[in-house]
Amino acid sequence: MSNKDIYILGIESSCDDTSAAVLKNDKVLSNVIANQDIHKNYGGVVPELASRAHLSNIIPTVESAIKEAKISLNQLSAISYTRGPGLMGSLIVGTEFSKALSLSLRIPVIEVNHMQAHILVHFINNGNTMPSFPFLGVTISGGHTQFILVKDFFKMEILGETLDDAIGEAFDKCGKKLGLEYPAGPLIDKIATKGDENKFKFPMPRVKGGDISYSGTKTAFINFLHKNQTKNIEFINQNINDICASIQKNLIDNLMNKVHLLSTENHLDTIVFGGGVSANSYLKKRLEKYAYNNDLKIFTPELQFSTDNAAMIGIVGYLKFKDSIESNLKSTASPRLTF
Ligand code: KG4
Ligand code: ZN
Repeated sequence: MSNKDIYILGIESSCDDTSAAVLKNDKVLSNVIANQDIHKNYGGVVPELASRAHLSNIIPTVESAIKEAKISLNQLSAISYTRGPGLMGSLIVGTEFSKALSLSLRIPVIEVNHMQAHILVHFINNGNTMPSFPFLGVTISGGHTQFILVKDFFKMEILGETLDDAIGEAFDKCGKKLGLEYPAGPLIDKIATKGDENKFKFPMPRVKGGDISYSGTKTAFINFLHKNQTKNIEFINQNINDICASIQKNLIDNLMNKVHLLSTENHLDTIVFGGGVSANSYLKKRLEKYAYNNDLKIFTPELQFSTDNAAMIGIVGYLKFKDSIESNLKSTASPRLTF
């Protein structure tokens, strides 16, 4: 080990995944994610169950991450953790665990904003090209849909965001109405590949400026299903592929309209995606075409770094540690943390 090497333990527990990762400088040595399958029984995340599962998962997850990285705890330079935004009970587990471990190891603790981490995950060194500033950051997940002007690592400005539901939430809620398991986003993505995206049409919300809305589409979708099921009880079963392809197209069209507006208005030729929905294969195809036609550079994270993971918390920890940005032990979980 060179003296200059920095080892960061990243901890993520903002929603329903407990994750721990070890980074050596900007490279990921391990990224362990414990998913909580229990929420499938309820069709969505149950906060109380999520925090209890984090409590059981956190120690084994951290142990696995340390073991996989083939380092010992006393080699760590610092611990970074998600302070927010997220579910209070879930955040408390990661926050308090990280502070306690940093205290016992006598190393600094670094707080991380989960949404910044979804963007800064692109600065993990895995041999790929990294984005250059400034760029348009687009975070699309189960809890957020945000458009961010990213001027530098920690100089970010929100240009617009959802006025109601997040895009992932819209995928999950529409999927639930189709009888799909939570989270329905990846299932809709898969089923849609067999369907006709132009078979059914749904209204497009008209929101001015950089903000976006998804709740109207969800209501229109529920009404559409009711209307057709009244006529034909087998409507969903007989049309599932086309329904998934058509609703997915609408949700992504809505997003692409805003991406186009904000990137042109702000003269940004680089667009960087983060969050679970950036794993969507239809979106990736649309982005490829869009980048080619408009001469843009578009970045989507590899699958393990798009949904919630601790490697993204680790890379922010590394960037802050290099800049001597530490937090103190008085810092507490913050469910509505902004930047
Ligand atoms: O970033 P993430 O893991 O957690 C949050 O911070 O919310 O995102 C989870 C969300 C869920 O709504 C899930 O349905 C959605 O990302 N998602 C997808 C896909 N993979 C995950 N949505 C559409 N297509 C996918 N392939
Ligand atoms: Zn997330």
